[in-house]
Amino acid sequence: MKTYGDIPGDAGSDVLGQVNAQQERLRARMARIHAKVAVLSGKGGVGKSVIVANLAAAFAEGGLRVGVLDADINGPSLGKMLGVRGQRLAFETAGVQPALGPLGIRVLSMDLFLPSDETPVLWTGPTEGGGYLWRGAMEAATLREFLADTEWGELDMLLLDLPPGTDRIPSLLSLLPELHGIVIVTLPSQVSQLIVAKSVTMAKEIVKAPILGLVENMAAHRCAHCGAEEALFAGEDSAQMAERLAIPFLGRVPFDPVLTRCADEGTPVLLSHPTAPAAQALSRIAAKIGEALHRAPALAEAKESP
Ligand SMILES: Nc1ncnc2c1ncn2[C@@H]1O[C@H](COP(=O)(O)OP(=O)(O)OP(=O)(O)O)[C@@H](O)[C@H]1O
Ligand SMILES: [Mg+2]
Repeated sequence: MKTYGDIPGDAGSDVLGQVNAQQERLRARMARIHAKVAVLSGKGGVGKSVIVANLAAAFAEGGLRVGVLDADINGPSLGKMLGVRGQRLAFETAGVQPALGPLGIRVLSMDLFLPSDETPVLWTGPTEGGGYLWRGAMEAATLREFLADTEWGELDMLLLDLPPGTDRIPSLLSLLPELHGIVIVTLPSQVSQLIVAKSVTMAKEIVKAPILGLVENMAAHRCAHCGAEEALFAGEDSAQMAERLAIPFLGRVPFDPVLTRCADEGTPVLLSHPTAPAAQALSRIAAKIGEALHRAPALAEAKESP
């Protein structure tokens, strides 16, 4: 059996040249996007994707050119939440044209490449020992292609919806030449908050990108009949937690069944039901993120945010 060491040079494949060319394409495309913001949590199922879909809507409504990259390769949701599933992607010389969501939001998600609802993403490769590392490498390679080979065009903002877990985040985010901010989402439950603290350490010490702040999701449920608010979880107050971790607190999104329904129907609640409690909370959070980005010197020339 031959090993790589037996093959002279790169056997004519110019692998290194291809990787460098892709890196260069990625750099050139990212240079045309003013602000890149990643949304992460640590714990899964806390509402990252629905928050990304609505933040994108808020910024697009405010007149920004917005793109959304669903970096959750194995559990993509943004195609569904932004109503673009089933759109045919156009492959052009310049790259893949992203799908177009509400208000022209440009969307790229693994969902758009899968042939059916039941098709999972399968990574064929080693299953023992190195399998985990190998899967991480494949995810990073896919994401690199999404960033490098999508014709994003000129954008004011690219939002990245990251997969749950803290382990793969540094390698995924290291693909970006620059990251302007991280938004962290938590439930007000101890189980979720425990992992938030790890995400904050990871963002500060490994990714080294500014943390724009913490969002508390599913903060409380308001009774549709009597208006009384009922807390759903018994964790630490998230505003206090943010203070303890020395990061800004961006606000609370209530549990709102209208939001769940809209996400399932593929319309951001913020556009279809702007007076719903969750929609109003999300628009205030978007405004705070916009202000925080504006204070960052690198974005001085970006357009006005909502
Ligand atoms: N504030 C809320 N009120 C009501 N439903 C919500 C709220 N936030 C999220 N949901 C619903 O909870 C479910 C999980 O949300 P979502 O998919 O956005 O979580 P996630 O953090 O992206 O999950 P994953 O970690 O698997 O990617 C969705 O059906 C979403 O519509
Ligand atoms: Mg998600």
